[in-house]
Amino acid sequence: MSRIPIILDCDPGHDDALAIILAAYNPKIDLRGIVTVSGNGAIDKVTYNALSICTLAKISVPVAQGSGVSILGSAEAATDIHGETALDGAPLPKPGFELSKESGIELMARLVRESSEPITIVATGPLTNVAILLKLYPELKSKIKEIVFMGGSASRGNRTPYAEFNIWMDPEATDIVLHSGLKLTMCGLDVTHQALVTKEVFTRLETLKTDLSTTIIGLLKFFAQTYNDVFEMPDPPLHDPVAIAVLIDPSVVSSRFVNVEVELDGKYTRGATVVDIYKREERAANATVALELDAKKFWDLMIDAIEAAGKS
Ligand code: BDR
Ligand code: CA
Repeated sequence: MSRIPIILDCDPGHDDALAIILAAYNPKIDLRGIVTVSGNGAIDKVTYNALSICTLAKISVPVAQGSGVSILGSAEAATDIHGETALDGAPLPKPGFELSKESGIELMARLVRESSEPITIVATGPLTNVAILLKLYPELKSKIKEIVFMGGSASRGNRTPYAEFNIWMDPEATDIVLHSGLKLTMCGLDVTHQALVTKEVFTRLETLKTDLSTTIIGLLKFFAQTYNDVFEMPDPPLHDPVAIAVLIDPSVVSSRFVNVEVELDGKYTRGATVVDIYKREERAANATVALELDAKKFWDLMIDAIEAAGKS
């Protein structure tokens, strides 16, 4: 079986942490490196969390620190959802290995350049690093197979009424990615709000009984509480691993290839993705947008990965 080489660009973050585990422990994915971006927390916090999760789950891939601010120089944190550390809810180990000396952008560029086959970039945070990579190294575009990102929505938002958090954090970067001409897959709130951590999911995690599953249960209980407090959702959506799951098994979602644009100037709608589901506009399709999730298939993949990681 040929494995899919990927770079994961993330801002851990509860759901990012589980995306790392799914990418590292699913046999169809070849995780070549992890890059961090400011999002759920400041860049030093999310980078620490990436190193800590890799230590906890015994994942040895290079981890490099990416951008600490958006293209326009802004940053904010999602402490209301992910807590002060960006990964509250369970004690995590001190990182057991060093951060890469390369910057996140340099690591991405080198991994893409050195790969003998085109690489897929999966972004589960703001698209800042990806946009910078495409602008600095346009010659590498031909070696990028696809960009899969968690972000946006074909309907409402979660950071503002119409903007999803990752896109809201860096609309200009999103615009660069949407107009890159590369193959794009968007996993927005439409589909990730179907990846709910239900009571049944907690029960499945409890049966694993490993140190890792115990830590994950602690993290997800925190995440469930904040989602309930902020969004009145008793079962929180595990957004980011959906962007890995679509690569492992495309039948996990059903999608439409349509035009997606991002609102840069809206008075109330900056950061909203405008998804032309019914093809009402002349604009050419540029992204495959996942809309429906097979939640059973998704959770089977996620639980299998947590089980495999717990035994490692
Ligand atoms: C996205 O925002 C972050 O808080 C999550 O990690 C996810 O990537 C969901 O809107
Ligand atoms: Ca994220």
